[in-house]
Amino acid sequence: MKCKISKDIGAGADLIRKGELVAFATETVYGLGANALNPEAVARIFEAKQRPHFDPLIVHISDIKHLDELTLGFSEQAKKLADQFWPGPLTLVLPKRKVIPDLVTSGLDSVAIRIPAHPVARQLLEAAQLPIAAPSANKFGCLSPTLASHVAEQLGGEIELILDGGACTVGVESTVIQCMDEVPVLLRPGGISQEEIEACVGQIRLARIEDHAEANSPQSPGMLPKHYAPRTPLIIVDQLSDVPLEGQKGLLSLFPLEETFLKNQQFSVREILSPSGDLKIAAARLFTALRNLDAADIDYIIALRMPEKGLGRTINNRLERAAAS
Ligand code: TXA
Ligand code: MG
Repeated sequence: MKCKISKDIGAGADLIRKGELVAFATETVYGLGANALNPEAVARIFEAKQRPHFDPLIVHISDIKHLDELTLGFSEQAKKLADQFWPGPLTLVLPKRKVIPDLVTSGLDSVAIRIPAHPVARQLLEAAQLPIAAPSANKFGCLSPTLASHVAEQLGGEIELILDGGACTVGVESTVIQCMDEVPVLLRPGGISQEEIEACVGQIRLARIEDHAEANSPQSPGMLPKHYAPRTPLIIVDQLSDVPLEGQKGLLSLFPLEETFLKNQQFSVREILSPSGDLKIAAARLFTALRNLDAADIDYIIALRMPEKGLGRTINNRLERAAAS
């Protein structure tokens, strides 16, 4: 199949309506979309991504007025979060209606919903007039795509069209919050920080990766320990003195390190996420930096842990998944 990269929203909407797959830009990462109400179309997503069926998908809608058609009830907390953060990098897990095929939700009685902010995603949703199920447009477990060319590299053989919207400005996936009980549960840290969420709804619960890994039936399989991984082994360190000395290494750090810090360490490549140490800018560059390091001829990637605040938590979460074996 010859894959086109274009801005032709009309062609994208036609493909979605015909039950085909279309990759499209969102502000977080590129998504691989299909008509969320058509199980055969949704099955194509799992095939193209080689994604296990126990991992449910996010359903994207253009406007909150469509929420009622897909979900059953909306807690007060969910409403507050939606009012403040939609459209944007927030996904709410809500009780689902029957119209959502089981394949989308892996048989769960909840569905993950997001209203994206990126104009390409919004225009596609409006033109297709359908809810669009879309995971990140990468092969399962690999690095998420933040440019149309990243999608073409991994899925170009499997899809006809990538709707180009430039570089994703948030650069990490949406924050997933389950709103099934009184206290919201953070299932996946993402583009909106825990601090921002708690400023809106008060203290939330944090889902623990270990619970889900042990149960082997993850509530949010994005929580599987190994995920978002480059091919090159990645090691997280708190300081450079923790770095093993052998082998060819690349360094990922938040800001530039002074040469005196680096004196005993030889890094063949270095990726700096934000010269000013801005964690939002760092998140937006994370996956591209990991791709660059992965393309270098090195034995391992050394990642200096980010400060555990704001989007630093999200970046650390992705680094931990990349480092897991
Ligand atoms: O930013 C994003 O969220 C991107 C863009 C394309 O919107 N999408 C994305 O989708 O990251 P995906 O499939 O890579 O991750 C979806 C996450 C997974 O962690 C999945 O387990 C969780 O959402 N999820 C989906 N439905 C769920 C449900 N009913 N209950 C709990 N978690 C759910
Ligand atoms: Mg993904």
